[in-house]
Amino acid sequence: MDLGIKGKWALVCGASKGLGLGCAQALAAEGVNVVLVARGAAALDAAVAALREAAPGVSVLGVAADITTPEGRAAALAVAGGPGTAFDILVNNAGGPPPGDFRAWERDEWIKALDANMLTPIELLKALVDGMAQRGFGRVVNITSGAVKAPIDILGLSNGARSGLTGFVAGVARSPLAGKGVTVNNLLPGAFDTDRLRVTMEGAASKTGRDVEAIADARRKTIPAQRFGTPQEFGAICAFLCSVHAGYITGQNVLADGGAYPGTF
Ligand SMILES: NC(=O)c1ccc[n+]([C@@H]2O[C@H](COP(=O)([O-])OP(=O)(O)OC[C@H]3O[C@@H](n4cnc5c(N)ncnc54)[C@H](OP(=O)(O)O)[C@@H]3O)[C@@H](O)[C@H]2O)c1
Repeated sequence: MDLGIKGKWALVCGASKGLGLGCAQALAAEGVNVVLVARGAAALDAAVAALREAAPGVSVLGVAADITTPEGRAAALAVAGGPGTAFDILVNNAGGPPPGDFRAWERDEWIKALDANMLTPIELLKALVDGMAQRGFGRVVNITSGAVKAPIDILGLSNGARSGLTGFVAGVARSPLAGKGVTVNNLLPGAFDTDRLRVTMEGAASKTGRDVEAIADARRKTIPAQRFGTPQEFGAICAFLCSVHAGYITGQNVLADGGAYPGTF
């Protein structure tokens, strides 16, 4: 299926690895020009080089910046999709907040989580959607988490901040932007095989003294699909949500979790 977005420009945040990189790869494979943002320059440069090789017909640019800071966002937005153009697609993503006990979190921890997982996506959306609406096409996909539907107690910072974003998106997606070709959706990962998941499992292994593969196996068995998702699968869903075919999907929370969420709705 031709997704109909060849030649568009996408800003993909948190894109040197994992789910963000999966989204950037899938979009570039559809002929979308992509600007990748991540903090670490080495992994970012490697991702940009690999993507240029894989998708020679598109422009691939990297911005080494912390997207959760005003300076980082300014640097990313300054690229503005290249001369004479602007971003048609925004994929919001950044690292998730650390786990812990809510009794230990003070205002600073909450502000950090809100900045990263709620206010940064809102700031970027604010900067880009009116231009998208003027041009009659726009796609915003926020990478959130399955924890928005089924919260995990030790991830209270994530549950809270991402639910705030989810409530905001539910409203803005149904605003007059919807009549101007701009869709806003959230894509909710369950367990995907990325660095983040591996680090979490290594942490559990060192805490419990169990073998990391045994921990991974036990986790896979809790998922009806009996496996972790891949960044490529995640990217393909993101690219579809950004396609011309998904113009009637807005304000939705699309869960990709191999059936892990047990509810009917
Ligand atoms: N993987 C899963 O199973 C899973 C499940 C539920 C939710 N999630 C959520 O999905 C998101 C992506 O997860 P992932 O598994 O793809 O993580 P990952 O493999 O650790 O990749 C995260 C990417 O984001 C970049 N990044 C992190 N913080 C950033 C910042 N402040 N500014 C710019 N770039 C930043 C990282 O590069 P730098 O570190 O160099 O900046 C890296 O490229 C996270 O919010 C995570 O909590 C993941």
